[in-house]
This record gives sequence, C-alpha cells and structure tokens, in this order.
Amino acid sequence: MSYIEDMFGLKDSVVVVTGAGGAIAGVMAEAYLRAGAKVALWLHRAEGLAAARERFLPFAAGPDSLFVVACDTGDRGRVEAAYDETAAALGHPVVLVNAVGGNRGKTSFVEADLGAFEDILKLNLLAGLVVPTQVFASRWIAAGLRRRSVINMTSMGSYVPLSGVWAYDAAKAGVLNLTVACAKEFGPSGIRVNAIAPGFFLGQQNYSLLIADRATGELTRRGADVVARTPFGRFGDLDELRGAALFLASERASGFVTGISVPVDGGFLADNI
Ligand SMILES: NC(=O)c1ccc[n+]([C@@H]2O[C@H](COP(=O)([O-])OP(=O)(O)OC[C@H]3O[C@@H](n4cnc5c(N)ncnc54)[C@H](O)[C@@H]3O)[C@@H](O)[C@H]2O)c1
Repeated sequence: MSYIEDMFGLKDSVVVVTGAGGAIAGVMAEAYLRAGAKVALWLHRAEGLAAARERFLPFAAGPDSLFVVACDTGDRGRVEAAYDETAAALGHPVVLVNAVGGNRGKTSFVEADLGAFEDILKLNLLAGLVVPTQVFASRWIAAGLRRRSVINMTSMGSYVPLSGVWAYDAAKAGVLNLTVACAKEFGPSGIRVNAIAPGFFLGQQNYSLLIADRATGELTRRGADVVARTPFGRFGDLDELRGAALFLASERASGFVTGISVPVDGGFLADNI
C-alpha cells in the first residue's frame, strides 16, 4: 500500500451517502468508491435505483461494494430500516454523508411563504442532518462502534446571509451550529462530526437561480453577482469537492479533526472591498 493510499484510502470502509441522486452527493460517492470504500447510495425515490447502480458500478471494487436503496431521510422509520438494510448488505457504516438539502427560489422577506419556509427548514435540518445523525449515532453508540465520521453540508449561507433565501440561510446556519454541537456531544463516543461548505456549484436545487439559459449557459443576475463576488471568478467544479470529501472521511487523515466546516468556495468567504 502506498503512503497516499494509507493516508486517504478507504478500503472496505462502509460509506453511506444520503440524497445520492444529487450533484454533490454523486461526486462524493464516486470519490469514495474510487478510494476503495463500500458505498451505500441512499436515493430519495425508488425510480432512480437501477440507473444509479449502473452509473456508479464502474467505480466500485466489485458488485458487492455498492448498495443502492430508497430512503426519505426525513422519515425516521425509513432511515432506521435503510441503516439495517445497509448493514446487512455491506456491514456497519463508518461514514455518514448527510448530502440531502437545498433551496427553492428566492423572495423578499415579507413575501416568504410560511409553508415553503417550514419545508426548507425540515429539508435541510431534519432530513439533512438531525434524523440520519440521530439514527446512526444511536446505533454506533449502542454497538460500541468508534472511529466513525459524519459529514454535513453547510453553505456560504451558514456564514453570511445570502439575500432572498431566508429559510435556507437559517437552516444552513443551523447545520453549522449543529455540526459543532454534535462534535462536542459525540466526541467521547469516538464519532467525529464535520462539514463541507461548498461555495457555488451547479446542482438541481440552485440551477435556475444561477443559470438563465440552459442552452447558452447565460447567467442570471444572481449568478453573475456570485461570480463577481468569488475571487476565483467562477462557480466551483464538482471535482473540486473530492479532496475535502476524502480528507474528512479518512480516519488516518483527519482522525483528530472534529467540529469544523471546510469551505471549498474559490475564496467567496475571503471576499472584501
Ligand atoms: N450546489 C451548491 O452550490 C451547494 C452549495 C452549498 C451547499 N450545498 C448543499 O449541498 C447539498 C447537496 O446540494 P446539491 O446542489 O448537490 O443538491 P441537489 O439538489 O443536486 O441534490 C439534493 C438531493 O437530495 C434529494 N432529496 C431531497 N429531499 C430528500 C429527502 N427527504 N430524502 C432523501 N433525499 C432527498 C434530492 O432528490 C436530490 O437528489 C445540499 O445540502 C445543499 O444545500 C450545495
């Protein structure tokens, strides 16, 4: 085994990626498979299961290293069942990647629809963190399983409010807060809790907010503002998330790291006047 494999390799570690049909989840799942992990792809709906298996199998060490299951991560009973199905297929998970989340459009504060506001909070806080983390941490602690890692998805909105996306900002500030709080809570149990804070990457949930014309790639006003505020002058390339994903998953690379959020943002948070 090379030094790099020893440091960042995940041979036979079981990694669960929730929201696995998503843009960021997909690149992270591929990175874990290519690093030798056994990966469970948890997709929101059953329709995409066969296609996801076909897409990711070429990166897996073998057919037994990939497990695909439907799971609405806001549904505690379903998350418990998916944990058990994953453990039976691949073994107990070592890493939980909470990649469910997202935003829906933007409005002025006074026009924000309360039903939609609540949905975004539930999506990012409950389905995106609380429910899966409760289930995984309680199973790990009950079984005495240590050296585990939870990776959450924060956002630029966790640090600085992004205009017009009130519920998303509030939820992602909460995800950052809970990442730190859970790191403290679970530290004695050998469970690390960290986050990745992507800058702006094109996903399903933010595409229409940033891109005006799919054919030409013309940016919306907001998309242009984001690029202007990013010192690197562009959106992120999804491949640029792989390094942070591997670092936080690998016990050898980040075994004493907990309670942090790693910005991968082209300098967005460093912008000033
Ligand atoms: N794309 C970005 O620029 C960016 C920036 C910062 C943070 N993030 C965060 O990263 C995460 C992934 O973002 P993305 O852009 O890849 O989003 P995406 O919309 O491409 O993927 C999200 C996935 O979650 C799934 N999902 C939604 N509700 C679910 C539920 N209840 N149960 C299971 N699955 C569910 C969706 O079907 C979708 O496949 C989100 O938390 C997002 O807020 C994204």
